[in-house]
Amino acid sequence: MSYENILVDVRGDGAVRTGLITLNRPKALNALNDGLMDELGAALKAFDADAGIGAIVITGSEKAFAAGADIGVLAQHDFVSAYTSDLITRNWETIRTIRKPVIAAVAGFALGGGCELAMMCDIVIAADTAKFGQPEIKLGIIPGAGGTQRLPRAIGKAKAMDLVLTARMMDAVEAERAGLVSRIVPADKLLDEALGAAAAINALGGPSVLAAKECVNRAYEGGLNDGILVERRLFHALFGTADQKEGMDAFLNKRKPAFKRA
Ligand code: CAA
Repeated sequence: MSYENILVDVRGDGAVRTGLITLNRPKALNALNDGLMDELGAALKAFDADAGIGAIVITGSEKAFAAGADIGVLAQHDFVSAYTSDLITRNWETIRTIRKPVIAAVAGFALGGGCELAMMCDIVIAADTAKFGQPEIKLGIIPGAGGTQRLPRAIGKAKAMDLVLTARMMDAVEAERAGLVSRIVPADKLLDEALGAAAAINALGGPSVLAAKECVNRAYEGGLNDGILVERRLFHALFGTADQKEGMDAFLNKRKPAFKRA
């Protein structure tokens, strides 16, 4: 499939490789419109269905991961058209259905929907140039792709309120300290770092990676009792996999595991 708003590539040289998606609307700082979100969803689904792909990296440009939803498009809506067309929701939720790990590699602006897209990813790695924020309030709206829900979960109510209500931006250091970002690297090392994290995941057992992501998401999205139950069931289920036999045998025999992803 050919894409107009994203670049798609496969990186790595092992049996299991990394799907790389680069948001590519540079003139609009990767503002997220339907064309881009439809393509992003299609590329994510294709990588998720490809047994040769272990993890996925989403990145943007040096200047912007994404500066938010396309304001030119938003400006054309009224309530009825926003509601009936399921504005933002329709093609923004695809990423939530992806079972393989998705890593956001963020340089420059990650604002509004760009920050929300990063938060929908499983790991956020930031360049030292990254700037995060939810400035929708300056447009007379509020975050519409989960920002008011994911931001407090990620960084706590106090900082989330500060960002959502004042529209101020948070730099990479503050975002890392607050818990939105897991690592900060110099901008010229960003992609290597993200691809390195993906390669580390690619070398692991396939079922356990899927189960780990599913369980952490339960902690993030649901209550403690449900989360513990899901974790326990998946923990038990992994004892039925070849990768569990291999991982434990390798440890006990002091050798490197060769996972079959089965
Ligand atoms: N939508 C549409 N176009 C955008 C855009 C956006 N979100 N962000 C930037 N652009 C365009 C600008 O209009 C400009 O286009 P032209 O060259 O044709 O004029 C181009 O990208 C470059 O932008 P600037 O000239 O503004 O660049 P800058 O370096 O001076 O400023 C910026 C950068 C601070 C990110 C500024 O562009 C900005 O504030 N952008 C808007 C950020 C924003 O409000 N995002 C929230 C959008 S609403 C949303 O996301 C809702 C939701 O929850 C999903």
